[in-house]
Amino acid sequence: MNQNELKSKFIEMYGEGGEIREYFAPGRVNLIGEHTDYNGGHVFPCALTIGTYGVARKREDGKIRFYSANIENVAPVEVSLEDLSYQKSYGWANYPLGVVWAFAQKGNTLDKGFDMAIWGNIPNGSGLSSSASLEVLTGVILKDLYEFDSLSMIDLALIGQFSENNFNGCNCGIMDQFAVAMGKENCAIFLDCNDLSYEYANIVLPDAKIVITNSKVKHSLVDGQYNKRREECATALSQLQQVVDITSLGDLDEETFEKHKDVITDVECRKRAKHAVAENQRTIKAVAALANNDVETFGKLMNQSHISLRDDYKVSCEEIDVLVDLAWKVEGVIGSRITGGGFGGCTVSIVKNDAVDRFMKEVGDGYKEKTGIDAEFYVVDIGQGAGRTA
Ligand code: GLA
Repeated sequence: MNQNELKSKFIEMYGEGGEIREYFAPGRVNLIGEHTDYNGGHVFPCALTIGTYGVARKREDGKIRFYSANIENVAPVEVSLEDLSYQKSYGWANYPLGVVWAFAQKGNTLDKGFDMAIWGNIPNGSGLSSSASLEVLTGVILKDLYEFDSLSMIDLALIGQFSENNFNGCNCGIMDQFAVAMGKENCAIFLDCNDLSYEYANIVLPDAKIVITNSKVKHSLVDGQYNKRREECATALSQLQQVVDITSLGDLDEETFEKHKDVITDVECRKRAKHAVAENQRTIKAVAALANNDVETFGKLMNQSHISLRDDYKVSCEEIDVLVDLAWKVEGVIGSRITGGGFGGCTVSIVKNDAVDRFMKEVGDGYKEKTGIDAEFYVVDIGQGAGRTA
């Protein structure tokens, strides 16, 4: 399917007439800085060229209809503006509905309903932010259809996060929605999640490519482990605050953390905090290395990031570790790590141009042999953030 076919599907579902508008929101991949966003640290994601396409039209009554062309032979989910409540039976439509709800919570109430159709090519549950893509897509649609001109793209990212936290029950940080809303072609975003200050960094790798490998093991952040990590970090922070004057784990460097870490009574919470502190410092170092064209150092920091996520933060899984171990053995691989929320999903690797084919063959074959699963590979093109396309 493509954007035009989605428009035809929209007309087939909802009929001709009115002003039909088209939109796109990308997925994202995070290069380094994992589980640092809600710990007041730095992240370094970029928007992809895969994402979610949307077609929408305002209605004259109070009805809202959501249709997904990814799910065949299922009628649109229909809700009324009068009742914007979460319903399990709505399935995927709880994401766009949550954004309508969040708009209203923030004082941007819709006077009329709308019809919306979407189609996405981000594999669900792959850690490439299919949900943030859908949330920001909905935000862009609402801002455009109802002329909420004062809302910035950063506001739309925050509203997306608010709806995911409070409507869909995942206590995620701001990274995904920010990257989807603010992405820029050929650039990664160096974002300080403490105050949302950011810089674009050009990702020009003259002799290497960024390759995503999908383990095809699905993760679901709502399952509780993600929220549990957040709570463990909050516990560690509050204990550290008894001895150091900090507002987040991102305020600490490794030396200060080492000095005070024993105040964290639970061993597991101590490990989580160790990761959050070290990963933030790694991200700052990695971005500086890249600015000096030192891709090798960037790669080494990615590898360290993986080890820390595997051993201290404990958000990896067997299959992902197999992928990363295989990648590390391939000649020409500069760095490789798990990316996104964890517990499955994807790895991100930096691979020398002339090693990309070998990488896919060796990692693909090895993974199949060890797990029985066919991994999927995507060579990354860094795309633009969300917006209206027609
Ligand atoms: C998920 C969350 C983000 C971030 C990452 C881990 O993608 O949505 O906010 O915490 O996990 O870095």
